[in-house]
Amino acid sequence: MTEDTLSAWRRAQAVCFSFDNTVTENDTLDLLAQHLGLGPEAAQVAEQAANGQLSTQDSLQRRLQLLNCSPQDILGFLDQHPPATRLAPGVEDLVAALQARGIVVYLASASSWELTAPIAQALNIPYAHVFADGMAWQETEAADGPRLVGFTRHEAASYASPQAEAVGKLRDMFPYQTLAFVGSGTTDLEAAQLAHGADIFIAYAGVVQHEAVVQGSDWSVRDFHEMARMLKKHKVACIGSGAWACAAVRIVAYNTLHNDPRDEFAKEVTMWVHEEEVNGRKLSEIINETHENVKYLPGVKLGDNVVATPDLLEAVSGADIIMVCVPHQFVHGICKQLQGHVSQDAIAVSLTKGMRVRPEGPQLISEMVRNYLRIDCSVLMGANIAQDIASEQLSEATIGYTILANAEVLKRVFETHYFYVTMVPDVAAAEMCGTLKNIVALSAGFVDGLAYGPNTKAAIMREGLQEMRQFCKALYPTVRDETFFESCGVADLIATCYGGRNRKVAEAYVKALMTDHPKTFDELEAELLHGQKLQGVLTSNEVQEVLRKRGWQDDYPLFTTTNRIVNGRLPPHAITAYRDCGIDGFDYPERADNPT
Ligand code: NAD
Ligand code: 13P
Repeated sequence: MTEDTLSAWRRAQAVCFSFDNTVTENDTLDLLAQHLGLGPEAAQVAEQAANGQLSTQDSLQRRLQLLNCSPQDILGFLDQHPPATRLAPGVEDLVAALQARGIVVYLASASSWELTAPIAQALNIPYAHVFADGMAWQETEAADGPRLVGFTRHEAASYASPQAEAVGKLRDMFPYQTLAFVGSGTTDLEAAQLAHGADIFIAYAGVVQHEAVVQGSDWSVRDFHEMARMLKKHKVACIGSGAWACAAVRIVAYNTLHNDPRDEFAKEVTMWVHEEEVNGRKLSEIINETHENVKYLPGVKLGDNVVATPDLLEAVSGADIIMVCVPHQFVHGICKQLQGHVSQDAIAVSLTKGMRVRPEGPQLISEMVRNYLRIDCSVLMGANIAQDIASEQLSEATIGYTILANAEVLKRVFETHYFYVTMVPDVAAAEMCGTLKNIVALSAGFVDGLAYGPNTKAAIMREGLQEMRQFCKALYPTVRDETFFESCGVADLIATCYGGRNRKVAEAYVKALMTDHPKTFDELEAELLHGQKLQGVLTSNEVQEVLRKRGWQDDYPLFTTTNRIVNGRLPPHAITAYRDCGIDGFDYPERADNPT
């Protein structure tokens, strides 16, 4: 096989398999003939056709005359020859591996729809992807009913065989840049070599080997596993190396190494590190040496197969799956640097919680990634406190997607025995939930700082969830209510309001106000988070700008009250009076004697 053929195989967007002696380890009509006790006679005719001595049509007619079979014969045959007994070795694995990569699989069969459909079903190939003629029956006087006299293909058919029809129609109907055809007979080779035919023809010689077909092929294989092994493996890269980025990369690195039954992922995972010095050494070097991010997720081994690099373009070079997990204020700058440098076949997934506010309005991080990198971007959101996931405590996440096939690959990248992943076709709600709950976490932190009990905290969280949903629906009317019940919705809200950094810093802010040494959020971020970033304050200001510009402040009293507390315009205990305090123009005695 040449480099060009290998490259085409790895680029293939669709693969069409011929049926007899390729997907099946028999010629189906021969097998039917054997079932009816007419094996040797039928095999002789089939051999003549395979060698090009008989036309496909002539051979078919001769065999059907020979078989002279009834519908009952066909049912009996299907009953005694279930798909598992007919499939060629390794074809199931190869088809699953192709489908796992989003490569569309088709079947082209000269042995009729009725005999092909059960095999298609066993291989999870939709019926719409099967090219085959139906059986044509003729009434007779026989007691067991009509006789099979032919297939529905007629003289006027524009293609000589179902295989040729498959190639021709796939070319006409779909803009596949690379189409591969896999077959074993002369008819298959002819189909692949149509004027506007397949880009590569792979001769499968595991059942029968026809020299002319092998000679005419780009690649000849005897084992489908070899074809699977040659498929491209998805390479994962992570942009970011903070606490959550590291905990997520640790799961991915484990999965690529130990939890990859379809062998679809490259073992090595690349991680971009915003370089800095830690104890006089470069952080990326420390990670590569110790396999640990000693600053952002100390004490946790990421995996020997994680390779850290401070070079952004090197990190995404050759990557097929790009995880984006940096504090949201840095994503725009990173996207600008990445523009034009990522593979257009890659897919992205954002783990970042936050949004961008531009003069023309808010922008989701996933939208920004999609616009700059020109690739699909899903999101992975959920109740995901980094340290808990790093210590393998059961957690869940939600993938919000627009392209299901991409979400399915991502689910296999991320899911493991302690990290359950669900998928929702609702990127906007999943991502906005992850963003907005950071504001409510600040509100919950104020409640904790003031030492109120669970009733108050629950009341604040309930109102927060309701404003989150209202805001999502106001900006993105297509969001689905169900999404708020996923991990990305109510579960993330609960986790963050009890165990997150925003809550922690907001509580500390209130407590500091009660002393002679009040502290700013910036001071507390530096003091308590050791380089990790607080997203809630920034998000609160960004969301408030949207509310202000649209005149919606009064409709979001909890968001508005929280923002005023964050900016020192209201004391923290105003949080319990959010219904009044969030109203514009409400005359609250600002920063009265008791600042809390
Ligand atoms: P982090 O807050 O732990 O660390 C901050 C990161 O920002 C560090 O890797 C630092 O190197 C990097 N950084 C600093 N300056 C930078 C710059 N100028 N450009 C680029 N990067 C810079 O990071 P994290 O926890 O991985 O958070 C990333 C995203 O994940 C955030 O949106 C956060 O809301 C979200 N998230 C975090 C958690 C969590 O538990 N930590 C959980 C779920 C989601
Ligand atoms: P904090 O940034 O408040 O820690 O929230 C983490 C998080 O998003 C958990 O899902």
